[in-house]
Amino acid sequence: MLMRSALRTWSFPRTDRVPGLGFASQGLHMPPCEFQPQPYQSLPYEYMQKVHHAHSGYLRGKLYRRPLLLHQGHMQWLWDMDGRRYLDLFSGIVTISVGHCHPKVVAAATRQAHKLWHTTNLYMVPSFYEYIEKLAATLPEPLKVIFLVNSGSEANDLALFLAREHTGNFDILTLGGAYHGGSSQSMGLTSLSTWKHNLPTSFGIHATMCPDVFRGPWGGAHCRDSPVQTLRTCSCSPGSCHAKNMYVQCFRDVLDSSVGKKVAGFICEPIQGVNGAVQYPKGFLKEVFDMVHDRSGLCIADEVQTGFGRLGSHFWGFQSHDVMPDIVTMAKGIGNGFPLAAVVTTREIADSLGRAKHFNTFGGNPMACTVGSAVLDVIHEEGTQERSAELGLRMMQALAKFREEFRVVGDVRGKGLMIGLDLVKDKESRTPLPTEEVTEIMQDIMEAGVLLGSGGNHNTILRIKPPMCLSEQDVDFAVAVLHQALTRHAARH
Ligand SMILES: Cc1ncc(COP(=O)(O)O)c(C=O)c1O
Repeated sequence: MLMRSALRTWSFPRTDRVPGLGFASQGLHMPPCEFQPQPYQSLPYEYMQKVHHAHSGYLRGKLYRRPLLLHQGHMQWLWDMDGRRYLDLFSGIVTISVGHCHPKVVAAATRQAHKLWHTTNLYMVPSFYEYIEKLAATLPEPLKVIFLVNSGSEANDLALFLAREHTGNFDILTLGGAYHGGSSQSMGLTSLSTWKHNLPTSFGIHATMCPDVFRGPWGGAHCRDSPVQTLRTCSCSPGSCHAKNMYVQCFRDVLDSSVGKKVAGFICEPIQGVNGAVQYPKGFLKEVFDMVHDRSGLCIADEVQTGFGRLGSHFWGFQSHDVMPDIVTMAKGIGNGFPLAAVVTTREIADSLGRAKHFNTFGGNPMACTVGSAVLDVIHEEGTQERSAELGLRMMQALAKFREEFRVVGDVRGKGLMIGLDLVKDKESRTPLPTEEVTEIMQDIMEAGVLLGSGGNHNTILRIKPPMCLSEQDVDFAVAVLHQALTRHAARH
């Protein structure tokens, strides 16, 4: 057993790296930041490694050669134990929507923490009503009835429960490449090999072909709702889309062959997050939603990553597909890092739960509601949705040029501040780049002071989803860092 006496405060020796300037040898300079972090004065790195092996149940992903120890955050910035500053382009997996420790959110949470933390929804508390009214105002009619829970997985579990209770049907359709969570039910909805296990989670759940216009069998140069299209050719006449028709046909085949005459529903992300910003052909969701409704099913939009203005053009991702879901689930960015999630639906569907009582101890607790309210205020006051549109465009246009310059950049896609760079062995076959090479690139990017994520079935897609408080200078710096890392990779291989 590890000695408690070892848990002393400790300061890691500072290196000669200048906070905020990255490695001087790399010649790239971070945009300035006036915020002064505290020096790191906590557990030693190696000691924490030992505690991890002894007591942590989690296997740590191999993101970098050595796990990064982060101890402070401010807006788009994070600091490690050496006082080294990073531009966070991954937001704790698309969760820091308005900025790390955003002062307005911190102030609201602090006020509430001194007042009331928890009561359960057995009682009335003002912060709950203030919040659900504010959240409902962001959604169109008839999506006005809200359940609050604590995580995206819980929200999707509840959405499934609602769809099955309301329709009296059982079968649920989902898309290949989807990620909907880690609970038994939401693991069943997920269709990415990394997150599938030998467990009976998918009973009554049917995955249909992922309508990925870059990797899939069909796709052309006009298919997606993005400033950047694939480099595939297209011979469709204006107004028609062969790829969309083919993927719709695949969906119809599953409906016709694998499920009963009636279904409980269909769940999808407006843009696939964990799968690396995969976008469907325009019009696909509209046709599929109609088919599901024709079979008495409900359509569920999982906005866990795409919501709260991240896509720039709309507040909710489903709006960019011109569809009206019956249920919307949301988490992550909703609380800017605080555990909060929601399921929004119509009064009629919500009332189906009257037949099956549902209870959630923490859902809608005063702390979460206060934080959620402050996050919505910041989004509106600081125009983060508009910023997402502008900055996302700036970044995607710059990154799109990488496809001409680098053999390994196969695709650049996304919308607003939800961007994916699909790394390939060669552009012809679109074979994913070996994982070790992706890891090298990620390591170089991190060492130059930028954090981003990876995703997709082979973990070869770079995922860029920063807090929406980014600046133009940050975007240009990030593009320069990625350029440098890809140049180094090209020199090595
Ligand atoms: C689209 C989507 N849905 C659901 C979830 C599950 O959310 P949570 O991890 O909060 O349970 C995630 C998490 O990454 C997600 O990306």
